[in-house]
Amino acid sequence: MLKVENLQKNYGEKLQFEALKGINLSVVDGEFVGIMGPSGSGKSTLLNLLATIDQPTKGQILLNGTDPGSLDQEEIARFRRRELGFVFQNFNLMPTLTVEENIVLPLTLDGEKISVMKKKLQILAEFLGIEPLLKKRTAEISGGQAQRVAVARAMIHRPGLMLADEPTGNLDTKSSKDVMNLFKQLNEQEATTILMVTHDPLAASYCKRIIFIKDGELVHEIRQMRGQRDFYEKILSELARIEGVDNEF
Ligand SMILES: Nc1ncnc2c1ncn2[C@@H]1O[C@H](COP(=O)(O)OP(=O)(O)O)[C@@H](O)[C@H]1O
Ligand SMILES: [Mg+2]
Repeated sequence: MLKVENLQKNYGEKLQFEALKGINLSVVDGEFVGIMGPSGSGKSTLLNLLATIDQPTKGQILLNGTDPGSLDQEEIARFRRRELGFVFQNFNLMPTLTVEENIVLPLTLDGEKISVMKKKLQILAEFLGIEPLLKKRTAEISGGQAQRVAVARAMIHRPGLMLADEPTGNLDTKSSKDVMNLFKQLNEQEATTILMVTHDPLAASYCKRIIFIKDGELVHEIRQMRGQRDFYEKILSELARIEGVDNEF
């Protein structure tokens, strides 16, 4: 599904800052992987490179056998629309469009037939439990609902890989749990591969594997073995080890 080799990203011109210092990572079909680490450790940078929003300084990304770096602008845009789905912290919905119009936007851009769009929309809305929202404007729905809509938009074209950057970052606990249960459902029932950046240990406990990044390097990884509660405890102690005050003295 995804293979990343010696991925490096420098920002800046003369005085370069090494945001990623050679990341190696493999993700197989159907995995649900979390990315954690202190603020500024390079999590969003990694996700943006995988999302083909930004280009690496060095190293290679292979997504379903394709190196996005070898594609021209038009091919990248098509690749992104067909193979990837994105969910962000701030939902990124279009305020002038209805919920329904927001969700089918990727298909509209790809010139899909209206009858096919309607069918896909109906199946997905039912699956995500957002049918009553479809005709509303995005200003009329709550944050938790908006994130469900954003997930629907990210999923409408059945992408192989869903990328999420702090998807619960603006949500209360109840809405966070709803959205994470949605991710879990997508992963388990639809076999969607998910890569999610989060600083929230509860959200992270829904993942099957967590990789920890610090100062642009992959420092550790843990897998869920004995259920979600046990994994949550493991995540907390890993975070304490990696980010904790112990390291300051
Ligand atoms: N566009 C940019 N230009 C310069 N520096 C950047 C840019 N984006 C991120 N950085 C820097 O790279 C580092 C990693 O950022 P980021 O990937 O956003 O971290 P995280 O998501 O883990 O908080 C930070 O030190 C940040 O200031
Ligand atoms: Mg970030």
